[in-house]
Amino acid sequence: MKSQLSLICSIIIFVFVSFSLMGCDRTAEPAGFEYDADQINRHLQADVDFKERYRPQYHFTPRINWMNDPNGLVYYNGEYHLFYQYNPFGNRWGFMSWGHAVSPDMLHWEHRPVAIPYGKEQEEGIFSGSAVADHGNTSGFGDGIVPPIVAVYTSHYTRNDGTTWQAQSLAYSSDGGNSFVKYAGNPVLEFDDPDFRDPNVSWIDDMGRWLMVVALPTQHKVQFYSSDNLIDWEYLSDFGPAGAIGGIWECPDFFKLPVDGDPDNQKWVLHVDLNPGSIAGGSGSQYFIGDWDGTNFIPASPAEDDAPLWVDYGTDFYAAITWNNIPEEDGRRLWVGWSNNWSYANQIPTYPWRSMQSIPRSLHLKTIDGEARLVQQPVEELKTLRRQHIQLLHLNINEESLRLDEYGIEGIAYEMQLEVDPSDAENFGLRLRSGEKEETVIIYNTATETLTLDRSLSGETEFSEWFAGSYDAPAPLQNGKLQLHLFVDWSSVELFVNNGKTVFSIRIFPDPSSTGIELFSNGGGAVVEKLDFWELASVWK
Ligand code: FRU
Repeated sequence: MKSQLSLICSIIIFVFVSFSLMGCDRTAEPAGFEYDADQINRHLQADVDFKERYRPQYHFTPRINWMNDPNGLVYYNGEYHLFYQYNPFGNRWGFMSWGHAVSPDMLHWEHRPVAIPYGKEQEEGIFSGSAVADHGNTSGFGDGIVPPIVAVYTSHYTRNDGTTWQAQSLAYSSDGGNSFVKYAGNPVLEFDDPDFRDPNVSWIDDMGRWLMVVALPTQHKVQFYSSDNLIDWEYLSDFGPAGAIGGIWECPDFFKLPVDGDPDNQKWVLHVDLNPGSIAGGSGSQYFIGDWDGTNFIPASPAEDDAPLWVDYGTDFYAAITWNNIPEEDGRRLWVGWSNNWSYANQIPTYPWRSMQSIPRSLHLKTIDGEARLVQQPVEELKTLRRQHIQLLHLNINEESLRLDEYGIEGIAYEMQLEVDPSDAENFGLRLRSGEKEETVIIYNTATETLTLDRSLSGETEFSEWFAGSYDAPAPLQNGKLQLHLFVDWSSVELFVNNGKTVFSIRIFPDPSSTGIELFSNGGGAVVEKLDFWELASVWK
């Protein structure tokens, strides 16, 4: 009896630990739960107007229910496909499936039926992964005319005793992503570890083969595999532990970029996420730069004793992956990340959906202090959303607070660019989304050349003890100036500093009436040499 009890206790603890490792509880099956196509796709019928409190206006959100990581980003036949971790049945993590949306420009999205639903028969969660366009029909899943889209995802199986294991599986689409069929021989790749997930596959020209990078989260490792046909995978190498290892490693991506735009000087970027232990607390993103010899990743930075390289200094950028199959004439490396944090993801106060994806960004390598570093820039397409434009030149901010509504500058969905000369100010900055009782503050400390984003008083914060806080990043002046490029949406701030050398992404939940924008300086005056403000249009009809 005693041993049965302790077995039951161990199972309960195991299940609890597994799900709290994910930072969330499993959603209970909703009342009247029917596991059929109507239920799975009820989001398409849901009565939503995209004007709900906190609903982002130019970021992707599902119509209803829970979303996490972007999955299977692939460009195909003139459309960007966004698959994503989705719970068709509720507004918390659970019943993981691949949701689906398509867009001509990564901004205007059409919500589609769920692409790969949770597998009820095998209790198979469809965890994160990638998708490729198999132009050579190497998999044999196509008809030899239309290239199939092949999704490579993690099957998260739950056994009868409640224990779980993970392996890599395939599903393919012969109709351009409208419908998917699971490969009968799944899973195609297993490893002796219950945590083995998030396969990211791409075609590597130099190798003439598919390359997969996949995480061993609790070992702080990624593994590389290669394949001729997406079905049979050959083990190549391990990388890690390295860099930041204060949490599990998830959602790797691996790609090559020219340094300073020079096609003869290319470096590989290994991006891998961390939960918790990130720079702003909780989950976040780090990267490594190095070379690829066809078998091994050889990292150049960070050097062994150096600080990790962070993709984002805010709290809300995770699990980003890049689009596959972008046409050569475009040539950009593009990604979106999940704008949330596992520390409080299931608690953010939005209904009837939860989570958004970041704005799409292009990725570049730039030499900074002699080393290649990842730089992110908002995609050009965002300019199409610009509406009313206001420009201000040579504003002296002298130990005062200047409200910009006097100039017609205020709002809750906008883009703003500033070039600031700190002059003799000890610090200067901006208050955004300010209202009677709230504000989100950006402060630049001239002596330490550090930028701080403070959301302690940003609005609703008390839903989680992990939410309120302020976050710092190094931001050295460039020729004596600071460049700020801001994207504010109804419940988010994305800040690109010095042309994307430092990036912050955070969610905030202020009152819709908090539209104020103020400039301030302390301990001396700063000069805003140029300020451009654009209202941004909603992408939802
Ligand atoms: C990252 C992650 C992945 C996993 C997915 C499950 O946010 O934990 O590692 O595949 O979410 O939803």
